[in-house]
Amino acid sequence: MNKIVLFCWLFSSLTLAMAEDRVIPDFDPDIGEEIMEICAGCHGIYAQGTPDGEYPRLAGLNPAYLERQIILFKTRKRINIPMIPYANDHELSPEDVKNITAYIASIELPRHMSKLDPNKEFDPLARLEESKKVTNIPHYPGDPKAGGKLYRQECASCHGRKGEGKWKKRVPMLTGQHSDYLLRQIENIRKGKRFHDSEDDAELFRGYTDEEIANILAWLSYQDD
Ligand code: HEC
Ligand code: HEC
Repeated sequence: MNKIVLFCWLFSSLTLAMAEDRVIPDFDPDIGEEIMEICAGCHGIYAQGTPDGEYPRLAGLNPAYLERQIILFKTRKRINIPMIPYANDHELSPEDVKNITAYIASIELPRHMSKLDPNKEFDPLARLEESKKVTNIPHYPGDPKAGGKLYRQECASCHGRKGEGKWKKRVPMLTGQHSDYLLRQIENIRKGKRFHDSEDDAELFRGYTDEEIANILAWLSYQDD
């Protein structure tokens, strides 16, 4: 094999592996859209969440992870009071959960507004709609360099090199998620209110200083620029 062939082969296997990692299960888009109307009341019509972190972004998250969280809400293993009326088997059957999580996982949120095409007529409504979808996390106060170092040591093995998550392992992405929501989850993990990956993680997370956590959040907030 010459070098170019080898490179092409490596590149195509790499892109294939990445594509394979992000398989979205089949779903009924009509049912997905219908259920989304309920979720949109809090999470936004594109499942983009709110910048204040009150409601997390769901769009583009791993469907298996989303499904697991809904099961945790249903069984009250993860407490989410606002969702109690919506996430029970009567309102959201296991079949519905499969549909809505696949639907939400398939929503792509652009990180930046598209460039204006000078040859096309300006469409203010389309522009406004697009702006609602654009999600780019504002830079979080902290030291992103120190945060990146700590992130690579402590978090990257599971959450991915750039915080993109790992679909097959059901590890959520952190990059592109609202910082204040992530901070609240870290607080919940520290207090033992939310299970992270293992029993010992509450203590592990208490071991990081607030400054270190802020630095990680700062680093993450630069990864979607
Ligand atoms: C009344 C408001 C409300 C509605 C309606 C709602 N949610 Fe939520 N949801 C929340 C809040 C608040 C959180 C964050 C809870 C926390 O801080 O732990 C959340 C968290 C989640 C999470 C966890 C995200 C993560 O990153 O771990 C998932 C998944 C989710 N919601 C799915 C849905 C789906 C699907 C629907 C529609 C069927 C829905 N939600 C409707 C308020 C709502
Ligand atoms: C051994 C693997 C592993 C490591 C290392 C790890 N995580 Fe996680 N993390 C997970 C898994 C798995 C989940 C999902 C837990 C669940 O299903 O509820 C998670 C969830 C989270 C969440 C909640 C995300 C959401 O959308 O609600 C945050 C925040 C988080 N991790 C931060 C971190 C940080 C910061 C580090 C490094 C200091 C870290 N994690 C290291 C495996 C890991």
